[in-house]
Amino acid sequence: MRRGFMYNREELLNIVGSALSEKRFRHTLGVEKMAINLAMVYDEDREKASVAALLHDYAKELPKPFLLKKAAESGIEMDPVYISSPGLLHGPVGAVLVRERFGIEDEDILNAITYHTVGRVGMSKLEKIIYLADITEENRVFDDVERIREKQMQGLDEGLLESLRQTIVFTVERGLMVHHNSIDLYNSILEKRG
Ligand SMILES: [Fe+2]
Ligand SMILES: [Fe+2]
Repeated sequence: MRRGFMYNREELLNIVGSALSEKRFRHTLGVEKMAINLAMVYDEDREKASVAALLHDYAKELPKPFLLKKAAESGIEMDPVYISSPGLLHGPVGAVLVRERFGIEDEDILNAITYHTVGRVGMSKLEKIIYLADITEENRVFDDVERIREKQMQGLDEGLLESLRQTIVFTVERGLMVHHNSIDLYNSILEKRG
């Protein structure tokens, strides 16, 4: 991590504590716990996992018009899926905001925040960890969450494949658009497996 940003967990907790509702704050702590757990299993930097996890939903409770405006100003690629579900922009916009406001310049951390909503082909280890921890943290209760928890211990791609399968099916069943990043990522993992 660059000079200028010093890891201070207490400070990060204060920041997200005031940006988020109690429920989402609890979720965030769960994501941090799971992300650190996965970081230990897969030999990733635990401090980076903590920072990315604590800040991943920083923009989650901002109004949709603000997300759209900030995304346009920041040159975030506008996609029809983002237009129809602006809430998804809390990933990319969150990354812009934490860079501007807290001086976080670590690209891997910023990418982990950016892509935790829809994923992307070629995700780094940290990006995969945050994506999965967001879905499998201890407060999450949905059918088959346990299956993703098991798979992610067999391999990050195994976990991703299972979670993408569930997310894509769920999204399609609700009649919503699926972001192409998620489909591309799903296909790329299957392709890699052969
Ligand atoms: Fe999120
Ligand atoms: Fe989240």
